[in-house]
Amino acid sequence: MKLGVHRVAAFFLALLLNAPAAVCHANAQTKHALATLAPSADSHQQSAVAPWWKHAVIYEIYPRSFQDSDGDGVGDLSGITKRLDYLKDLGIDAIWLTPMFPSPQVDFGYDISDYTSIDPQYGTMADFDRLAREAKQRNIRVIMDLVANHTSDQNSWFKESRSSRNNPKRDWYIWRDGKGPGQPPNNWLSWFGGSAWTLDPKTNQYYYHYFYTEQPDLNWRNTEVRKAMYDVARFWLSRGAAGFRIDAISRLFEDPNLRDDPILPGTNAYGDPNIEHKYTDNLPEVHEVLRELRKVVDGYPGNPVLISEADQPNIVELTKMYGQNDEVQLPMDFQFALVNRLSAPAFRKLIDEIDRNRVSGQPYFFFSNHDQPRQWDRYGDGQNNDQIAKLTATLLLATRATPQLYYGEEIGMVTTPPARKEDVKDPIGKLGWPKDKGRDGERTPMQWDTTRNAGFSTKETAWLPVPPSYEMRNVAVEEKDPNSILNFYKKLITLRRSQPGLREGSYEALNRQDEHVLSWLRKNPLQGESVIVALNMSGEPRRISWDLKSHGIKQLIARPLLTGPGWDRAEAPLSGITLAPFGVFIGAVQ
Ligand code: NOJ
Ligand code: MG
Repeated sequence: MKLGVHRVAAFFLALLLNAPAAVCHANAQTKHALATLAPSADSHQQSAVAPWWKHAVIYEIYPRSFQDSDGDGVGDLSGITKRLDYLKDLGIDAIWLTPMFPSPQVDFGYDISDYTSIDPQYGTMADFDRLAREAKQRNIRVIMDLVANHTSDQNSWFKESRSSRNNPKRDWYIWRDGKGPGQPPNNWLSWFGGSAWTLDPKTNQYYYHYFYTEQPDLNWRNTEVRKAMYDVARFWLSRGAAGFRIDAISRLFEDPNLRDDPILPGTNAYGDPNIEHKYTDNLPEVHEVLRELRKVVDGYPGNPVLISEADQPNIVELTKMYGQNDEVQLPMDFQFALVNRLSAPAFRKLIDEIDRNRVSGQPYFFFSNHDQPRQWDRYGDGQNNDQIAKLTATLLLATRATPQLYYGEEIGMVTTPPARKEDVKDPIGKLGWPKDKGRDGERTPMQWDTTRNAGFSTKETAWLPVPPSYEMRNVAVEEKDPNSILNFYKKLITLRRSQPGLREGSYEALNRQDEHVLSWLRKNPLQGESVIVALNMSGEPRRISWDLKSHGIKQLIARPLLTGPGWDRAEAPLSGITLAPFGVFIGAVQ
């Protein structure tokens, strides 16, 4: 069994690197031409027909932890609105808000009790409307989270459903008889530990939940459920949402015959046997729903985007979600988030696979999110961490993938798990302690300045403690330092926007045999400059030279665009340059 969302790296990576190539899928664009806004992502003339999300930099915000505006120690919508100028200045094009709907907060918002309101601790609907309006004024789109697989057990739909066996909403969830006294219907296990079935004494039947007991799964075979969830999507689209990240999409359907899942050797952090989620994950029916949802969102202006959270074991499975231009536009490529060490051959292979499998689809990369340890900790060597952060930033922002940042990565925030079990907030940390300390470590408050709680909240203590690193790592300090990680991100995002090769170019791997330096070309499809990128993924200086004739590059020098550290010449000979440890080189070639 997979051990919580971010404990699966080795398993997935092994599968991934063995995954066969070649899946055909159509391009998910062109349906709508230009969006109604003219955001910075659309500003380049060659993009007149490209959808906005193809060039957008998406920034994930965990609302609980971004900015508290009312002093209760919890972030809120007005706090995000206050920080929009910061985001504008950073250069991002869209924010993805993880759920801020009414919720008992068992899974911090991924257990929704009312899909069309705002949880009072995050604000009001008027606050949301103001956020959407002010974001639009700054050409920042707002992507919402559509938690389609399950609701909270406090949702009125579930309360009705559980009230009697013949309630009209009974079939909205998955109710079954046990096998016998005290025995659940089958061996399915929850992703968050224990059986996936909970007995409800009121009607003496079990209900199914892929996640916590408090997150009953909806029955997607019921047409009323589909309609209700599509109405949720319509509600937010008409309030200005630019699309959705669809939570846990691969888990919508379960085997109607309730066959037992295969048991694998060993146990997980929760003490359960490892299991293959064969009959609860990735059933073909998912695609029918994605197509229906695509039709719903396509009825709205602005080319709303659908992003699938699909931590698929391999790229073939993942890219199936593009469909025939009728499913999602961006399936989240967890692969980047799952590589645990810097390795030029490993990343080369990954990007190759992703690129090759997409025909004309659009890759979507991220390193960190609210379920994964932050990248700085995964790749840092303790000595060159700042430079390594700049290197991973380049990897994220200079391929042709749509990049997603996680709040705080642009200042080098670190994962800070709780020191004591009694401080853990995330239930999977309580259950999995000490093997799995849960996800609090990657959800700590954003670090704005050197004041109390790093400027996140005026309350004595915030909902999660601010890591001690805030004194050095915060927006105010880094804004003043020209060499900071933050200023590097800003330069990179500006470059990505202004350099046609980086915006429109194809991806061509270079120097495939190099063990230490990952290098690629972004070939400009039109006349004009292309871009080469080289990343030294080792702690030693490395020399790299390029022969780009076969790639149609005639000149023998590159014009440096963004380099570091210690590289300040006006020209770089393609016959060879030396990169500092973890050094980065981005140059224009023609
Ligand atoms: C994925 C979300 O990212 C995670 O935070 C959540 O716990 C599960 N889905 C269940 O909704
Ligand atoms: Mg607050």
